[in-house]
Amino acid sequence: MCGIIGYIGQKDAKPIIMDGLKRMEYRGYDSAGLAILNGKSVKMHKKAGKLVNLQNEITDKDLAGSVGIGHIRWATHGAPTDENAHPHTDSAEEIYINHNGIIENYLTLKKALEEKGHEFYSETDTEVLAHLIEEYHKEVNLEKAVAAALKDVVGAYGIAVVSTKEPKKIVAARLGSPLVLGIVNDGEYIVASDVSAIMPHTREVVYLQDGEICTLTPEGYTITNLTLEEVDHTIEQVDWDVSKVQKQGYPHFMLKEIMEQGDVVHDAIRGRLRPEEGLAHLRGFIEHADRLKNIDRLIIVAMGTAMYAGMVGEYMLEEYAGIPVEVESATEFRYRKPVIDERTAVLAISQSGETADTIAAVREAKLKGALVLGVVNVVGSTIARDVDAGAYSHAGPEIGVASTKAFISQVTVLALITLFMGRQRGMSVVTGQRIAKELMELPEKIETILKQTDAIKEIAERYADSRDFFFIGRKYNYPIAMEGALKLKEISYIHAEGYGAGDMKHGPIALIDEDFPTVALVPQDSVYEKTLSSIQELKARSGKIIAVATEGDTAIDSIADDVIYIPKTLEMLTPILSVIPMQLFAYYVAAKLDRDIDQPRNLAKSVTVE
Ligand code: F6R
Repeated sequence: MCGIIGYIGQKDAKPIIMDGLKRMEYRGYDSAGLAILNGKSVKMHKKAGKLVNLQNEITDKDLAGSVGIGHIRWATHGAPTDENAHPHTDSAEEIYINHNGIIENYLTLKKALEEKGHEFYSETDTEVLAHLIEEYHKEVNLEKAVAAALKDVVGAYGIAVVSTKEPKKIVAARLGSPLVLGIVNDGEYIVASDVSAIMPHTREVVYLQDGEICTLTPEGYTITNLTLEEVDHTIEQVDWDVSKVQKQGYPHFMLKEIMEQGDVVHDAIRGRLRPEEGLAHLRGFIEHADRLKNIDRLIIVAMGTAMYAGMVGEYMLEEYAGIPVEVESATEFRYRKPVIDERTAVLAISQSGETADTIAAVREAKLKGALVLGVVNVVGSTIARDVDAGAYSHAGPEIGVASTKAFISQVTVLALITLFMGRQRGMSVVTGQRIAKELMELPEKIETILKQTDAIKEIAERYADSRDFFFIGRKYNYPIAMEGALKLKEISYIHAEGYGAGDMKHGPIALIDEDFPTVALVPQDSVYEKTLSSIQELKARSGKIIAVATEGDTAIDSIADDVIYIPKTLEMLTPILSVIPMQLFAYYVAAKLDRDIDQPRNLAKSVTVE
């Protein structure tokens, strides 16, 4: 959600900033801008729309300079226009700032600044911060001015600030929005919202913490707190494979990421299974084994796709580990008064590890004394750092805005957690061995589904003109119905709703006619017959059915209009297979409609604002 970048060094800043913005474009893409300093002179360009608009605007412009900041926006305050695009500047046009986050008290600050004579040109909260820094910068250097201004601010920010009064300096700071410092060389640094913007230049990074300010000059860098006292920090090596952030011949990241899912399951279980003993080896969980054994309740908090993964986890953990589990949208969790004690564990699931709502839920749970666990993909992210223990989901970088491979990795890790906690609570060795064996067979089974891509494409294209869809499933496939509907609406903009198959007759079935198709998840599991009956009820009302069924199920052929087959697996692991046709179906409907699949309208990859 908004990407910021700053470069200081010996090279031309412009190409480095533009390349970084390109790599972070999935974070937001409704406008972009940059400011390059060349001594005391500064050149700023801002353009509404995709990054390519900014690129076209600056192609033949002379933007020499080795200090600069860039921004890619996902609008919060003010429409996506040239004026509202970042950077923003102060009255004297000396300070230039990029911001990711929300300044919640900006109206109060703005009023006070207006009374002092400041004039504002945009509708953004960020511009207020530029003027606030200007006030302090009259008396003190840039880092002191930024620190002083940030003390007045309520909200969340990742910022990069430059000043023509000190043209060889970038000051960056974070509170609630991610920021990473890349150390390229002595005197050459990149600060960005995301390591993907840094990776082509260096693997040495420092993940800045909330409340930290980083000052970059050709002489070196310092990391301090808001009172400008130096703080300890660790330089870490990023081990991401750069090829993973390229499309490698696929038309979209989303399709590439769907196709990687066999490897994703493999990577999520690698080194974590003891198949002979029917055990899962999860280092972070082992460290808290005693406390985990004694918890009497687990609350899973997450958003969107990650929450649907959590719902699959709820069914697994209740069935195999006998732990009462509740799944809650993090947005709700943080504002009610959840009853939590030291015998409650809270498990946060997040691909980015930067979702503001999930971070807030984690912090609330910690305050209340719960054991807080995480299943996170991005290494070093805020949630990964905040939790007491966790298991990375190891999906690798996910660039497509619609989450696919992260979901599969999350459900796989939840199966490992189920195995771990189940064995703590009386699950037999034989059951443990069975789960482990079935998990190891999943990558191959995923490949057999991916081989049906052409058939799924053909079905999807035939239905692409429908205006509405239902997705139905039951038990383990209920969350997959929700996820299937979410995928379709996100990238095709078609109205879709996910329901429990048994819920249809309680109202939604009223909408069914020959133009309202339903995607029905009906694998041969413990609720097969029940789901089949729900499908019959839809057929009886002329509804079209696209079924996802188990290989060898001939009965479904005569009922459904179209069938996509998935291999048989353990019931609790079915979602890992059945979600793949959902992803491919959504993808090919959207492709047929010529949608912007990797960057769907109104969305951004990581939602770092409330
Ligand atoms: C849907 C999607 C979102 C995210 C949600 C949580 O395709 O990507 O629903 O799942 O915003 O994001 P993370 O997992 O980064 O916390």
